[in-house]
Amino acid sequence: MPSRTIRVAAGVVIAVTALSYSVGDLDPRLPTALSAGFAAGTGCLTFAAARSLTRALRRGEARNGRMCGELNRLGRRVGSLESSGEVRHAECLRSLTRTTQLVEVGLDRVGGQCRSLEREIGRSYAQLEAFTDLRALITPRAPLPALRGWAASPDVLRMMTGWILRTRPKTIVECGSGSSSVWLGYVAERTGATVVALEHEPRYAEASRDLVRAHGLSDVVEVRDAPLLPWEEGQESYLWYDREALDGIEDIGLVFVDGPPGATGPAARYPALPLLLPRCSEQVAFFLDDAAREDDKAVSDRWVLRFPDVVRTEHPAEKGLDVFVRGGV
Ligand SMILES: C[S@@+](CC[C@H](N)C(=O)[O-])C[C@H]1O[C@@H](n2cnc3c(N)ncnc32)[C@H](O)[C@@H]1O
Repeated sequence: MPSRTIRVAAGVVIAVTALSYSVGDLDPRLPTALSAGFAAGTGCLTFAAARSLTRALRRGEARNGRMCGELNRLGRRVGSLESSGEVRHAECLRSLTRTTQLVEVGLDRVGGQCRSLEREIGRSYAQLEAFTDLRALITPRAPLPALRGWAASPDVLRMMTGWILRTRPKTIVECGSGSSSVWLGYVAERTGATVVALEHEPRYAEASRDLVRAHGLSDVVEVRDAPLLPWEEGQESYLWYDREALDGIEDIGLVFVDGPPGATGPAARYPALPLLLPRCSEQVAFFLDDAAREDDKAVSDRWVLRFPDVVRTEHPAEKGLDVFVRGGV
């Protein structure tokens, strides 16, 4: 804007000067005066323009300063965002790693549970198969007592039933009464055998007798009270059924060794073979239930050493089953 004013002023002076020379009747001092005025005006305008430029420069510098400050602030903000982003990134990675570990542990656990569920389904199916076989052989006269758990499992009962049907023993002895007394009773009824169940607990002896009665098997199954008494062999002492409870038992063709319970003492079932074998027929089988348990494994091994003419076979029954046969078929 000042330069345009200067140009206009200079144009006016030049035009007036030129006019004065061409007309020739103007005061000859006029161009000089006009030039001096023009110079003074130009100086004033130049000064004003310089001041205005200076102010504009200062404003520009101030604006630049503010912009620099703003840029620095933004830089710091971006830096802090970057570092806080890095922190959060590290946190995310840590929690992702932890989550992955937890998921892996959970998957392992679920995998283990699936495998044990599969095993249980397999076990249950095997028991159901054996149960179906057994049920096909008997026609119960009352609701049948439960199997498995504290009672014998169907797989063991099925094996014993097979032995009974094949060898037709006269006498069956059961160490430990309960559900099996009824199931074996039905099979014995078919073959004309008798069952003697030894029971050390009076209340369970009574309960078993009630069951036997309810099934109309009292003529086939006798539940005998047989408290546990000490019995010694060599240096070893055991608690086993009262020997008086064995009175009159002969020609045993099958012994189901399912008692006394392990809690009554170590090697609780060991006396069964040495004490009952003399009362057995030439052909006999001892079915040792729970043979998967350490204590009963030890009993089984001692029988093998002590009775070389009795042959052991091991079976993968639910609770483990070792069968000792003399005079095998
Ligand atoms: C391993 S259990 C098996 C009894 C039987 N051989 C059977 O399979 O049902 C051994 C002991 O369980 C006890 N028992 C008998 N009836 C029972 C019942 N209803 N509930 C819990 N225990 C019982 C008796 O003392 C028995 O000698």
